[in-house]
Amino acid sequence: MGKLSDHIQEADWKSEKHAPVINCEDSVVKGEFFEVEVSVGKEIPHPNTTEHHINWITLFFHPKGEKFSYQVGHYEFSAHGESAEGANQGPVYSNPVVKVSLKTDKPGTFHALSFCNIHGLWESSKEIDVK
Ligand code: FE2
Repeated sequence: MGKLSDHIQEADWKSEKHAPVINCEDSVVKGEFFEVEVSVGKEIPHPNTTEHHINWITLFFHPKGEKFSYQVGHYEFSAHGESAEGANQGPVYSNPVVKVSLKTDKPGTFHALSFCNIHGLWESSKEIDVK
């Protein structure tokens, strides 16, 4: 019996379309809101079809030296061309890109976890400093 974390994959997002990308400043200002964009398929687009798509991305923040992680947000992507006419005949497709605004007084690490309905769980991380 393994742990779920044993099955979370990790890779360079520049060569692996499933790896989530966390985009924000390396250093942010204490107490001031800043934006973090999280996406899947930034360099190599991931398919977005009824049969194969990104279901969700969750973003966590782990303050440096602390025990617990905090969930910043959970973002679901629900439109993948589903339709009464059949798969991939629908009028709307959601793109797995989200932008969130947040503030913190502590340096730490963002962790993004994403889920492909076929290729499972993927994670990536990005450290930030606070001035
Ligand atoms: Fe996939």
